[in-house]
Amino acid sequence: MGFRRASTLLECVRLVHDALPELKLAEVDTSVTLFGKRLRAPIVIASMTGGTEEASRINQALALIAEARGYAFGLGSQRAMHLRPGTADTYRVRRLAPTALVLGNVGVVQARAMTTSEVRILVDEVGADALFVHLNPAMELVQPGGDRDFSHGLETIGRLVQGLGVPVVVKETGCGISPGVARRLHDVGVRHVDVSGAGGTSWVGVETKRAEATGDQQARALGEAFWDWGVPTAASVALLAPMGFETIVATGGISTGLDVARAIALGASAAGIARPLLRALSGGASDGPAAAAAMLDGVESELRAAMLLTGSRDRAALRRAPRVLVGELVEWIDALGSKEPGQK
Ligand SMILES: Cc1cc2nc3c(=O)[nH]c(=O)nc-3n(C[C@H](O)[C@H](O)[C@H](O)COP(=O)(O)O)c2cc1C
Repeated sequence: MGFRRASTLLECVRLVHDALPELKLAEVDTSVTLFGKRLRAPIVIASMTGGTEEASRINQALALIAEARGYAFGLGSQRAMHLRPGTADTYRVRRLAPTALVLGNVGVVQARAMTTSEVRILVDEVGADALFVHLNPAMELVQPGGDRDFSHGLETIGRLVQGLGVPVVVKETGCGISPGVARRLHDVGVRHVDVSGAGGTSWVGVETKRAEATGDQQARALGEAFWDWGVPTAASVALLAPMGFETIVATGGISTGLDVARAIALGASAAGIARPLLRALSGGASDGPAAAAAMLDGVESELRAAMLLTGSRDRAALRRAPRVLVGELVEWIDALGSKEPGQK
């Protein structure tokens, strides 16, 4: 379920053509290092699933792709695993992906009710290198029976950053991270974020469709009103880039290599892809993993082309490449980019 009117605003980033790149395509180096592991390309297979047999098959297929191609792999929320330890195997991908960068996943509301040691068990059980702590208040509000109490989130995150013993990456799920939230996260020691901004998958949209199917008119109306809610991915990355984070993952509506290149030019360390990959994997092709790998081939070759055509030999050069920002993205940056610390 995509956003309807809102976009990532990555289309407002115009990378400037370099007609004399003085580079060989084969020399272009797309690799990045995240959490001490080298990725062949700045691609994170974003957190999606776990807890069921089908989820297990998806996790295994995507983890194999991550291992073979040198991407990072995010597990879906490990809530099911915490509540039903018998489902742990559906998240275990280390046997298939012994060297890949694997990220665990837990919701901040679930983590609030857990001790740090309990959260650490989730990380250790799957051999994760780092933990995504996800934020999803908009989706929960629209979900009948979803969470309604979002208090003590920052305190929980601060506790995990101090005591977990592996890097904590605070991640939205499609509504983006504003500079005000980023500042509060930075103040409690967070150095890694995944903006998961607006413009890609709308979880409010998913919940709205579910409410429609069950005839819950109140939830449906709320969902309709907030379907396009959130900070667009490009705005979130651009606004957080000067704030001193070590890692900014740009997820939310990334489906091409040009999107990845634009996100990196704005300041992202890597880009995450969720629904487009799931679609390729489960979209009816007889060989889902081959379809997902083909989609990623396209992303990588487009990224490489964008790097060559901006004269960027590597990620650092792409980060410095000239670009023109236009339209609504400029309005977001103008409105929120110069606020004093403490303001939302
Ligand atoms: C089927 C599906 C399941 C998801 N489950 C999770 C999850 O368990 N934890 C999480 O942090 N994000 C989850 N997400 C959010 C994605 O990681 C990502 O932030 C969001 O979908 C935006 O990326 P996209 O536009 O590429 O889909 C899920 C997304 C999809 C499509």
